[in-house]
Amino acid sequence: MANLLGIDIGTSAVKAIIGNDRGAILSQAEVAYPLFIPRPGWSEQNPEDWWRASVKAVRRALAGAGGKAPILGIGLSGQMHGSVFLDRGGRVIRNAILWNDQRTRAECGEILRRAGGPRRVLRMVANPVFTGFTAPKILWLRNHEPRNFSRVRRILLPKDYLRFRLTGEFAGEMSDASGTLLLDVARREWSRPMLAKLDLDPELLPPIFESTEVSGRLSASAAKLLGLPPGVPVAGGGGDQAMGAVGNGIVKKGVASATIGTSGVIFSHTDRMETEPRGRVHTFCHAVPGTWHLMSCMLSAGGMLEWFVKTLCREEARRAAESGRNVYDLVAAAAARAPAGAGGLYCLPYLTGERTPHSDPDARACFIGLTPGHDKAWLARSVIEGVTFGMRDSLEVMRSLGAGATTMRLSGGGAKSRFWSRLQADIYGVEVEITNSTAGSAFGALLTGGVGAGVWRSLPEACEAAIRVVRRFSPDRKSQAEYDRLYRPFGKLYESLRDNFREIAELG
Ligand code: XUL
Repeated sequence: MANLLGIDIGTSAVKAIIGNDRGAILSQAEVAYPLFIPRPGWSEQNPEDWWRASVKAVRRALAGAGGKAPILGIGLSGQMHGSVFLDRGGRVIRNAILWNDQRTRAECGEILRRAGGPRRVLRMVANPVFTGFTAPKILWLRNHEPRNFSRVRRILLPKDYLRFRLTGEFAGEMSDASGTLLLDVARREWSRPMLAKLDLDPELLPPIFESTEVSGRLSASAAKLLGLPPGVPVAGGGGDQAMGAVGNGIVKKGVASATIGTSGVIFSHTDRMETEPRGRVHTFCHAVPGTWHLMSCMLSAGGMLEWFVKTLCREEARRAAESGRNVYDLVAAAAARAPAGAGGLYCLPYLTGERTPHSDPDARACFIGLTPGHDKAWLARSVIEGVTFGMRDSLEVMRSLGAGATTMRLSGGGAKSRFWSRLQADIYGVEVEITNSTAGSAFGALLTGGVGAGVWRSLPEACEAAIRVVRRFSPDRKSQAEYDRLYRPFGKLYESLRDNFREIAELG
């Protein structure tokens, strides 16, 4: 018997899990760290905090697993797009700028100008320019902190910084590198043309590996800190979305996933590289070598419901605390009693702007269609429906590319409630499934570590061994037809409001 270790650098905490070579989870531990918001719209973390928290989490997970089985392999996952700037000695120069940071609007314009417009960008790196991606952050550092920029010798993504601390290797990996705007996603190598257009030295970037390849081995100093033997292989791992998908078994065509956490992500495996001509969904390398995925990312999915609950459901929170229940269960139960379509009430869930499919940092959330007959339960229903309609917007884009799925695997908060799971089946119009896999991206990372260490021959084989479906919901044909009808006005509402959002943003 041998064990494996998966580590995920999240936005609020690092999660470490230990599993065995049959894919069963033995223990897990989470250690939180702070998020810094130096100005509205900025979002930063200290990579040293990730490292210190990772050491603690791994030690706790190892202690929790008890037994003496050796750790055969390690896999890494992490929040995507963040920039870790290192100096000549491998020291962190400033806090990392994260995926949800919105400071780079001007640099996005600069990239488009330098690269010769959106079509050229799409041709070079398969994705449009988004404020949260990595390249605009590098340009921001050059434009705003030239002294810091002049000290930069290496740039790493969050989980790759963890790899650097674990192994001493300066290395990256394809799925995560796809979200930098610097990767030729079709050829799975850094885009020399893009780097040249942006006047960036290719030496700043690490050699990149496939997710399942061994990218380095645990160094003696890191091994001592973690309480492990040196030399354990560390696999490439992946960005948290690719690792979450692997952890849910999304490793072949036809099955996609819908993950509703703070953000809302639809993830669809593709055997060939597909790009959406308008860049309305992302095209990234998948963790399964030689394959790709389409991915959407709504910025406020569960985040919209969280805002609603925190701001308007104090009474429900009190009742939940008194009865030992979860406030989200109470709110979902109330929403389930309201009628489908919430009596003509629509919620546009663009609380923090929107990434896909609208790419609009100025978009804002709104309720449209309020009447005196509406109460809180109806509002809750419109929030949950609005988030699910937003997810369907991106699913429709994928369907138009032939990457729709016949089954969707649900995870995150959206899969915890039966009501929301059924609603997703009705609104997406396909059967939805929930698996036994509950450890998300850290579990996907663990599986890549297992393949890297030779426990399984491939990720599909690892998923086959470890993941099974525990629940299924088929769409109810009548409500599916009803939701098809209710969905139609949803997208039109955003289109009619787009110019108003811009005008309001310009008011400052
Ligand atoms: C994916 C994305 C987020 C972050 C943080 O494109 O921006 O999912 O990876 O989880």
